Amino acid sequence: MSSNIPVRHYLQFADFSADEYAYLLQRSAFLKAKFKRYETWHPLHDRTLAMIFEKNSTRTRLSFEAGIHQLGGHAVFLNTKDTQLGRGEPVEDAAQVISRMTDIIMIRTFGQDIIERFAANSRVPVINGLTNEYHPCQVLADIFTYVEHRSTIAGKTVAWVGDANNMAYTWVQAAEILGFKVNFSAPPGYQLDEKMLSPQAKKYLNIFDNPKDACRGADLVTTDVWTSMGYEDENQARLKAFKSWMVNDELMAVANADALFMHCLPAHRGEEVSASVIDGSQSVVWDEAENRLHVQKALMEFLLCGKL
Ligand code: CP
Ligand code: NVA
Repeated sequence: MSSNIPVRHYLQFADFSADEYAYLLQRSAFLKAKFKRYETWHPLHDRTLAMIFEKNSTRTRLSFEAGIHQLGGHAVFLNTKDTQLGRGEPVEDAAQVISRMTDIIMIRTFGQDIIERFAANSRVPVINGLTNEYHPCQVLADIFTYVEHRSTIAGKTVAWVGDANNMAYTWVQAAEILGFKVNFSAPPGYQLDEKMLSPQAKKYLNIFDNPKDACRGADLVTTDVWTSMGYEDENQARLKAFKSWMVNDELMAVANADALFMHCLPAHRGEEVSASVIDGSQSVVWDEAENRLHVQKALMEFLLCGKL
């Protein structure tokens, strides 16, 4: 289906401006309220979303599939193992074909270079549903969740306790665009790669050796699995290296009294987070998971219809 909107992709958090995020956050709230009132809203009537998964998923698949359906469109789930991509068809050729038959595409894959090559050959918007480097839809949902609970995130401090993974790099990008600080702490050998950071990142990023120091005075404490998908061979070494990087009551105690706890899920209680924290009163992980649905509806609507 043709559209008058120029093709934009969402491959990393840095692809949108602060003004665009302000729009998306208020639009997410608008769409969430409509959904809660059972109001039909079908701006994407007859549009098709292709969802390409090279890695497992619960939340991303469900929130995109339910989301496009609620906007009046339809989703097609493609597991790369079942498609010709799994038998070596070039990413560029797959992008040409899939983007001629659908209106918008979401991809969960390994290297960021794969999604970039796909987008360069796509006629329709491509959304990053997680790569090794970034997970922008998740951080958008997390920021929306923070704003819902505590209002603006600008000027606040987010403590990241754990691996320098796709979530961590996305938080650092978001800090620069939306004007908050990230306190980062990971064990030796698992630090952020300077080559992946923007020249301005240091203004928004403080690195701490001790995870407790990173949490001191934080408004939001967040973490993620010690071993991300695709790094399973390193699991044993990571279990040892990260054992002092668990978000527990001791770490939450030094954060601000009204600090929230987030985790993109799935979580491992007793590894990166204690049960007392993830199941405790400061945790907003279920709102955070639900909000994937609402922010991604705003995102798909924005990419296909512009600002409404
Ligand atoms: N947080 C997240 O992306 O979850 P899934 O891996 O279940 O999609
Ligand atoms: N960092 C995790 C996030 C899972 C949603 C991973 O990449 O496996």
